[in-house]
Amino acid sequence: MKFFVDTAQADDIRELNDYGLLDGVTTNPSLIAKSGRDFKTVVGEICAIVDGPVSAEVAALDFDSMLREAHTLAAIADNVVVKLPLTLDGLKACRRLSGAGINTNVTLCFSANQALLAAKAGATYVSPFIGRLDDINLDGMALINEMRAIYDNYDFSTQILAASIRNANHVKDAALAGADVATIPPAVIRGLVSHILTDKGLDQFIRDWQATGQSI
Ligand code: G3P
Repeated sequence: MKFFVDTAQADDIRELNDYGLLDGVTTNPSLIAKSGRDFKTVVGEICAIVDGPVSAEVAALDFDSMLREAHTLAAIADNVVVKLPLTLDGLKACRRLSGAGINTNVTLCFSANQALLAAKAGATYVSPFIGRLDDINLDGMALINEMRAIYDNYDFSTQILAASIRNANHVKDAALAGADVATIPPAVIRGLVSHILTDKGLDQFIRDWQATGQSI
């Protein structure tokens, strides 16, 4: 499973990229607002840090304006992926952009039928929002399982990009369900490495090593 980081903070992206842990980045209007910075400048900066795909979302709701914004975003860098909402106009824009060779990420997916439509529209990625389904007592991971089965049934090449990931169990369960990608907040990525027995074992090894008086 590929790891994307779900943030617009360049420092976090740089750090995680340096660890060799990043396959790409996703942003959304809320993350851009949180950064307090100019959208196109931030996207350009992120695209210069990572080689992999960087999702940048249109703000328009109608087809013509979406297409115009999509072309503006795609012109920022070769690795921009245009993020489009899962609406009829968004799907129409997805079909048009896919035909023009522009990569797309259809976002705000909450049902298997929506995911089926996005794949039929030629989406490169579809983003099911796991955490937001769990928030309203639905089963986010069940959606990933349904999408995997449907895409495999029909050999869709659209990649399942598990989004709205809130914790380490979401990451593990998305991987078990066969998601192609998970987009994960920086803190959750860092947290994946932690285990109390790793810390305890390392502490013991260091103390025993120091007792030998040797150096390497
Ligand atoms: O970027 C889309 C998605 O990952 C947002 O997550 O936590 O705002 O539901 P969240």
